Amino acid sequence: MDSMLDDRFVLDDSSAVGLSEQFGTPLYVVSEAAFRSRLRRYREAFAAAYSATRLSYASKANSILMILRIAHEEGYDIDVASEGELRAALLAGIPASHCHLHGNAKTERELDFALEQGIGEILVDNFRELDRLRVRNLGSTKLMLRLAPGVDPKTHQAIRTGQADTKFGFSIADGSAERAVDFCLSHKLPLHGFHCHVGSQLLDPDAQRAGGAQIAAFAVAMEGKSAFTATLLNVGGGLGVRYLPEHHPMPVEEYCQLIVDAIGGAIGDRHPTLAQEPGRSVIAEAGVTLYRVEVVKDVSTTKGPKRYVVVDGGLSDNPRSAMYEAKYEVRAIASGETSLATVSGKHCETDTLFSDVHLPTNLAEGDLIQVLCTGAYNASMASNYNRFPRPACVLLGLDGQAKVIQRRETWDQMFSSQVLPG
Ligand SMILES: Cc1ncc(COP(=O)(O)O)c(C=O)c1O
Repeated sequence: MDSMLDDRFVLDDSSAVGLSEQFGTPLYVVSEAAFRSRLRRYREAFAAAYSATRLSYASKANSILMILRIAHEEGYDIDVASEGELRAALLAGIPASHCHLHGNAKTERELDFALEQGIGEILVDNFRELDRLRVRNLGSTKLMLRLAPGVDPKTHQAIRTGQADTKFGFSIADGSAERAVDFCLSHKLPLHGFHCHVGSQLLDPDAQRAGGAQIAAFAVAMEGKSAFTATLLNVGGGLGVRYLPEHHPMPVEEYCQLIVDAIGGAIGDRHPTLAQEPGRSVIAEAGVTLYRVEVVKDVSTTKGPKRYVVVDGGLSDNPRSAMYEAKYEVRAIASGETSLATVSGKHCETDTLFSDVHLPTNLAEGDLIQVLCTGAYNASMASNYNRFPRPACVLLGLDGQAKVIQRRETWDQMFSSQVLPG
């Protein structure tokens, strides 16, 4: 499919009004058809590019149980980065053997829990973790080493992970990665291969290509030096999405081919399984968020008049704008002549959600707006800041019905952990 083609999920006006009346706002909405079609397209693209592939869904992007279940139904294993994410996958009915545990500071408890459950794979980040694994019964769990390939992706600082100055993984450049392989071999740990994840929301896939080539070259070098043959190479996630119309992520077919070629160039006639773990690129564009306008305020600034459109959510349901200066496309469920506005949340920060968006000039209190491409890293990053309940999420099913897959948080849930001693 052409990357110029905009196939992001968008609610039509009457559905937006109906859903907001039935379920309230703010409301996350996910299209099952859009999610499944992205999962399938990625799977088919990877399988077309290479004969032995495996995909995991990076559950950090959105770990609502039904989302995990759909990803698994579409043939994906589940990448978890904490005990909580593993518990979510188990509650969704996914066997631990189909889950892979990430994390740069896994606790003893997390490792014990994952191993007791029979986790399929652990992606080891550091020597402390190797020490902890060495003295445990690993059963049938496989180990992979997360490597820091020393490549610098072009994305926001907070979601760059592949560069040399990183807290993630064993550095190839300083020899840590080689020492980690030797450690696994000398302690007879079940090492299967290597992993890297260089960053997220990458519209230019150069860093992933370089990361893939680096871990493949490292695998070949280890064959010579340590007589270790990698049977699995995993290049993580990171493919970008179209937050704004001018964003043009590489079509997934081209992307998978590029990754396969980058690795193929280094491994020659070896034939390891190749793996990826996409999150954002399969779920972000399948979701939108509905907000209701609470206040429209016109202020005078030194640069002239400015309009604030304040909605009934904000930082607590979408922290990405504050964290990464993330941009989104906002559409009003109303029409008319437009002017520039800044959409803000109702938190006690200047929680600008979206600056300089075109919205109808007559937009007023009570009107709805929808924000596109919010399926990833919104629900999963939501908080209770300012004691806001986390929003509900509805799935628009293949049968056209809207089903609640996450209830709006209740006051009882919010305060259930609180203790007033005495
Ligand atoms: C190790 C790892 N794998 C996969 C992902 C998923 O990345 P994305 O959502 O950009 O595809 C991440 C995201 O941070 C990650 O840290």
